[in-house]
Amino acid sequence: MKIAIVGTGYVGLITGTCFANAGNDVTCLDIDPKKVKTLRKGKAPFFEPGLSEMMTKSINAGRLHFTDDPTTAYIDANIIFICVGTPTGEDGRCNLSHVMGVADSISDLLDSFDEPPVVVVKSTVPVGTTHNVAERLKGEYSIANCPEFLREGNAIDDFMHPDRIVCGVEDDRAKNLLEKVYAPFISDGHPIFFFDIHSSEMVKYASNAMLACKISFINEIASLCERNGANIERVRTGMCADRRIGNQFFKPGIGYGGSCFPKDTLAVMEMGDDAHAPCLVNTAVHNLNQRQRRWFADRILKHFGGDLSGKKIALWGLAFKPNTDDVRDAPSIDIAQTLIAAGAEVSGFDPEAWETFGEEVPKVDICKDMYETTEGADALIICTEWAEFSSPNFTLLKSLLREPIIFDGRNLYVRAEMAQHGFNYYSVGRPTVELTTA
Ligand SMILES: NC(=O)c1ccc[n+]([C@@H]2O[C@H](COP(=O)([O-])OP(=O)(O)OC[C@H]3O[C@@H](n4cnc5c(N)ncnc54)[C@H](O)[C@@H]3O)[C@@H](O)[C@H]2O)c1
Repeated sequence: MKIAIVGTGYVGLITGTCFANAGNDVTCLDIDPKKVKTLRKGKAPFFEPGLSEMMTKSINAGRLHFTDDPTTAYIDANIIFICVGTPTGEDGRCNLSHVMGVADSISDLLDSFDEPPVVVVKSTVPVGTTHNVAERLKGEYSIANCPEFLREGNAIDDFMHPDRIVCGVEDDRAKNLLEKVYAPFISDGHPIFFFDIHSSEMVKYASNAMLACKISFINEIASLCERNGANIERVRTGMCADRRIGNQFFKPGIGYGGSCFPKDTLAVMEMGDDAHAPCLVNTAVHNLNQRQRRWFADRILKHFGGDLSGKKIALWGLAFKPNTDDVRDAPSIDIAQTLIAAGAEVSGFDPEAWETFGEEVPKVDICKDMYETTEGADALIICTEWAEFSSPNFTLLKSLLREPIIFDGRNLYVRAEMAQHGFNYYSVGRPTVELTTA
């Protein structure tokens, strides 16, 4: 099958690479010529485990191509996947200008296709957008929606072994082509659903909203635990034994970030307002997430009496989650900025996100070694649960820190052990370990 992918961000590049790996002839189109040049060399512009190796294999096999020229990408394509960004705009609404720009560029070339292409909107879009794309296409085509559920950091495996594929279609051509292109990825028995386009668009937002809701919910319970002397880890264990609740995606912390949950929750609220059906749960989920970040930063400020001038703070974990270098809407950004505004000197470490974070918050001194950040620091703050932070050398850490204080935003450590190691230890939803009472 000849496939065109528009947009080579996380979704487009993974989608194109995995389809090429399955034997298709894939051309990825991006408006950024610099990016295209890098991609042609088999280099991914972001960190994603296993991606560069898979890209190189398919490029060498002649199945994966990159271009910034729409004609080259679209001509003869059986199927075009629109995978461009849909960020929150300055007005707080989902910005669809990239998606509509792509629709126009496809429309300009529709007359030159031998066979009408299937145009698939894969970007996460508000209900009705796929039909708005179709309205801009002048010529013959089939339209479909096929939201993407991959997780950054686990993207290749998620794409190769999806829990489900959801498609919104209106004719058999689109259905048959999507069935064919996804067949290798669901041979292990996972389902492919064919729905109407509006329902397909809604599945994506509803799924992300539900996941965001789980995070805000457990954070709210964590807050209650702290105020009432309970321990959220025990409460969570007790709750999750109920199979109706389950234990996935249900960990307390400093809130969700990234390019999806924050913007998708806002987009659901926007859809609710537009439909005169305000989404009250989603509004609370969003507000709680903001509150969680503020609460964590305030807790640090409070410990130091509100003034951090002359203090040095070490930050471990800058990416919005482990196994990615993506810092879009990462809690670490808000926290670092709050500390800097209060007068602190902040040093940071992340196994992958040093460059991306450095561009966002240049005032943070980025170190190449996790222990280097803590030299002479008055406290260590953990924002992201990278595996390498889970069992550090506590003796070394204590000798490097000026004060043995850890603010753990991801509950990585056992409280009793932290007392033995001699740390003041703040975590989320668990009683604080204070040296005087340890
Ligand atoms: N990042 C994720 O984990 C994830 C997961 C599921 C769904 N999504 C959704 O997928 C969509 C894409 O997200 P992303 O994170 O991959 O975006 P991204 O911002 O990382 O990448 C978008 C790419 O599209 C390119 N682009 C913009 N306009 C273009 C045009 N007219 N022609 C060609 N290329 C163009 C940009 O240069 C950029 O490389 C969004 O709607 C997002 O919500 C993202």
